[in-house]
Amino acid sequence: SHVMMRIILVGLGNVGQGLLTLLHDKAESLQQREAFSAQIVGVVTGRRGTLYHPDGLDIAALLDAAARGTLDAYPDSPALRRDLPALTLIQEAAAEVLVEASPTNFTDAQPSLDYCYTALETGKHVVMANKGPIALAHDELMRRAALVGKQVLFEGTVMAGTPSIRLAREGLRGAQLLSVRGILNGTTNYILTQMENGLPYADALQQAQALGYAETDPSGDVEGWDAAGKVLILSAALFGHPRRLAEIDVQGITHLTPADIESARAAGERWKLIATLTPHAASVRPQRIPITDPLAGVSGASNAITYETDTLGGVTLIGRGAGRIETGYALLTDILSLPRP
Ligand code: HSE
Repeated sequence: SHVMMRIILVGLGNVGQGLLTLLHDKAESLQQREAFSAQIVGVVTGRRGTLYHPDGLDIAALLDAAARGTLDAYPDSPALRRDLPALTLIQEAAAEVLVEASPTNFTDAQPSLDYCYTALETGKHVVMANKGPIALAHDELMRRAALVGKQVLFEGTVMAGTPSIRLAREGLRGAQLLSVRGILNGTTNYILTQMENGLPYADALQQAQALGYAETDPSGDVEGWDAAGKVLILSAALFGHPRRLAEIDVQGITHLTPADIESARAAGERWKLIATLTPHAASVRPQRIPITDPLAGVSGASNAITYETDTLGGVTLIGRGAGRIETGYALLTDILSLPRP
């Protein structure tokens, strides 16, 4: 039977716009193939206020307002509210799901974490691309979700729309996960690839920002914290072992020079920012790996993850790990996989 999902969207940056673009462009095929349609009933932004319309906001007009950088550009209509505080909107809007796509912060994950708790308390599922809440409070989110019979899904927090979480949770269900090794940050992998092509670091970083790969504050990417946050997520979600950022051995790529890149190349090697996770240890550090290592062939904003298991040996997934549409797509797959009301 046909389902209509009413969505509250937090964050109207690259990722939020990516989801809106997909909902807009795929409306017909989602209707036909998935018997699914969606309404965006509310939008919450960090500094640009909120929008609420009980019958759904116009997605094309929202994308236009987002491109202009102001919700003021969204056209008025009788039932439109522009004045609701974020928490009031999340509490009171009739909606099935809260989509969290605001910028990640690994310090306290606020205000996003409270948005998630409030959504659950008022009977909404939570789907997130924002890594903060799940990295810092995975277990508490799951506990609260179970209490109210709702789901918290977060495919987009690791490798964007490339289904890293779903592969581990569904495809590897009967296997025991022994370790994880991968390239989990698109920005740094893109920078390293461009530096191999002879581009200076600063130009490569600028390109990664323009392409929508980098975080709002890109120091989180280049210093390794974004990949480390993803390690926290995998540790809590797949190993049942919540860790703190301070427990991870983290090193970024900011100290790598063109000479380092060149000397690796001359030796038939390549620098990659590698994340490693076992039940006992977790790290993120640049490593010089031989060109024959499968991870050496992962270039640009692509990411890769190898799950070592007791039963299947290694299972490797490679795909895009960052980007507007790529991450919007993760939100879409999570929304589509929610139980239907
Ligand atoms: N800034 C992140 C990256 C986005 O570059 O991988 C995806 O989480």
